[in-house]
Amino acid sequence: MPAVVIVGAQWGDEGKGKATDILGSRVDYVVKFNGGNNAGHTVVIGDQKYALHLLPSGILSPGCVPVIGNGVVVDLKVLFEEIDGLEERGIDTSRLVISANAHVIADYNRTMDKVAERFLGSRKIGTTGRGIGPTYADKMNRLGIRVQDLFDEKILRQKVEGALELKNQVLTKIYNRRAVEVDEIVEELLSYVDRLAPMVADTPLLLHEALTEGKTVLLEAGQATLLDVDHGTYPFVTSSSATTGGACTGSGIAPTEITRVIGIVKAYATRVGEGPFPTELFDEDGDGARLRKNGAEFGTTTGRPRRCGWYDAPIARYAARINGVTDFVLTKLDVLTGWDQIPVCVAYDVDGERVDEMPMTQTGFHHAKPIYEYFPGWSEDISGARSFEDLPKTAQEYVLALEKISGARISTIGVGPDREQSIERHALL
Ligand code: GDP
Ligand code: IMO
Ligand code: MG
Repeated sequence: MPAVVIVGAQWGDEGKGKATDILGSRVDYVVKFNGGNNAGHTVVIGDQKYALHLLPSGILSPGCVPVIGNGVVVDLKVLFEEIDGLEERGIDTSRLVISANAHVIADYNRTMDKVAERFLGSRKIGTTGRGIGPTYADKMNRLGIRVQDLFDEKILRQKVEGALELKNQVLTKIYNRRAVEVDEIVEELLSYVDRLAPMVADTPLLLHEALTEGKTVLLEAGQATLLDVDHGTYPFVTSSSATTGGACTGSGIAPTEITRVIGIVKAYATRVGEGPFPTELFDEDGDGARLRKNGAEFGTTTGRPRRCGWYDAPIARYAARINGVTDFVLTKLDVLTGWDQIPVCVAYDVDGERVDEMPMTQTGFHHAKPIYEYFPGWSEDISGARSFEDLPKTAQEYVLALEKISGARISTIGVGPDREQSIERHALL
């Protein structure tokens, strides 16, 4: 005991990596439970900057065991490239454990992701092109390849044949592409086996035993609540469960073990890819561009400029509800320095009617126009603030106003990318 969950409360890139890194030194295990290398977490430690995609952010904390849970989809080429990249920089990755039940992203899943997006045209999702959706689709269709399947060549071949039977028909007859050779796929996957084998374990058992021994386990989400396949802005979502429920299914840890849920929320909002975003700012050289520039809002994974907008309280409340958030970490408050006043969306106007919570339907959310309240800004540099009292009065008031309308207390405030640039109001662990 205990298990603690970190989830994104908006559309991703809230700063989950930094929050996980801060807590890394206080926990025994860090488990990534969903997604794959669609994630991009930037962690800044002094003059070193790390971009993590597939590995749990806990890999940077020497005292904890990083775990890739069963809910993750693993691109093995990316896994070993990421491990090699960290090892070259002196990071010890030897503690990494990978679930035998995690699914593998095969080359044909990446192909399917890209051709499907092209085929959708204007209806595209704007995926990261990493094969995430097709791999989870295979999992649900019971056509997936799991890590454990790589250890029996006969079984692996049978499964790859099964996965390709229909896909090759679709690739050749609908998408006009060449068929994928079973041998090529099997050969590539088998080439990883020797290196992979020592890392693989029964991770639900391992984590259960750790909790029984009184160890602390941190469950780290990729993506975020509004990108969750059930609770997000479907269909403009990722294909995994990025919320607290997913932390249980994606790790094998029971809900009754979870004692705290930390929601990471930015002091404004961003989104990458397509889909509705009520507070989005479209002006080319106005507030949206200024948020993007001040917040360096460019994707860690694809380099795409992130769409930027003001803080959306109904969404934060929704995330608090869906995840059972006990504490928020409010990140990037420093980015708002320099505005005379800061708009905060407190409700929506949906077709002429005031709606205080996330609308029930997709159409309702597409029609939602933000109703703003305006809060006075501040001009002082806050990046050196280390206590709440160090913040200018108006910045304090902004935080307290968000706390009042967001559904949980704000326990930590981020005032810069470095792990030291945080204000801890209430201990997170
Ligand atoms: P994640 O996907 O949720 O881990 O977030 P990303 O790493 O994709 O994006 C968050 C970005 O904001 C990263 O570049 C972080 O280094 C940076 N960051 C995190 N917290 C803060 C903060 O409080 N202030 C500033 N200025 N940057 C931050
Ligand atoms: P982190 O963990 C922001 C978005 C993509 C796209 C949609 C589906 O860094 O917060 P996918 O490739 O997953 O099928 O794409 O989800 N997306 C993210 N946006 N942060 C992420 O991860 C994301 N992972 C996926 O841009 O709109
Ligand atoms: Mg990110």
